[in-house]
Amino acid sequence: MKLFGLIGCPVHHSLSPLMHNDAFQSLRIDAHYHAFHVEPHLLKEAVQGLKALQCAGFNVTIPHKTAVMAYMDELDETAKQMGAVNTVVNENGKWIGYNTDGEGFVRALCEQMNIDLSGARILLVGAGGAARGIYFTLLKHRVSAVDVCNRTAGKAETFIAKQTSSVYSLEEAEERLGEYDIIINTTSVGMYPNVDAMPISLQTLKKGTIVSDIIYNPLMTKWLQEAKERGARVQNGVGMFVYQGALAFEKWTGIFPDTKRMEKVVIQQLG
Ligand code: ATR
Repeated sequence: MKLFGLIGCPVHHSLSPLMHNDAFQSLRIDAHYHAFHVEPHLLKEAVQGLKALQCAGFNVTIPHKTAVMAYMDELDETAKQMGAVNTVVNENGKWIGYNTDGEGFVRALCEQMNIDLSGARILLVGAGGAARGIYFTLLKHRVSAVDVCNRTAGKAETFIAKQTSSVYSLEEAEERLGEYDIIINTTSVGMYPNVDAMPISLQTLKKGTIVSDIIYNPLMTKWLQEAKERGARVQNGVGMFVYQGALAFEKWTGIFPDTKRMEKVVIQQLG
């Protein structure tokens, strides 16, 4: 039996074991996925230990996504660009670090909302690790603009490409919502237990805009609810979670799993 896993701190709430083990079972793959709680000061030992145990691959979550890069034998270009690793593959005894978060978000957006990104004008709310991954992946598509707004001025400037992007304050972005086809919340604002918080106000939102939130707990944030009431097409963070996992699963097994089944498993647990 092959061993796969997740390292993070904390990990007890993670839905990844359930989602991956269900996929292994349904595809009759002899493998098991386990969530390992790893304290930051023991990260190096944990990564070395997993190699000694011939672990076939693992996911990485908060707070280890950047620190784990130091213990990889090789890093994929996307992981380097994002400055973070969420998926590690054991390739003949070498740890290769990848990042499927940005691609996971974009695949979920296009497939679940049935859209093509060419020519789209997109606004990202937030400029942290999640925003960065999504930003670089969006730029690979033929989008017309990806603008970024953030609470802390200056943070977005560290990664944006000036020819395709503008940076705004949250207040400036709130005035401009009508200019965008797609608006994405990449911050944790509105996540359980602070369910009443909203990342930006939606007063200028126009009907038909696609509004996506990477949060999946709660399944419908207050922000998404308001967007829906204002006539937007909305998407929650389950899609990104499922697709980043499906892309990791594909790297480990060569098989792209049934994302609808994965989504069902996750929603059943959250619902
Ligand atoms: P992650 O890696 O998950 O994206 P992060 O790097 O800590 O996490 O980034 C979190 C993002 O949420 C940032 O854009 C942060 O804004 P700042 O750069 O100003 O810190 C944003 N964020 C978090 N809490 C916020 C709040 N209460 N109001 C507005 N923005 C917030």
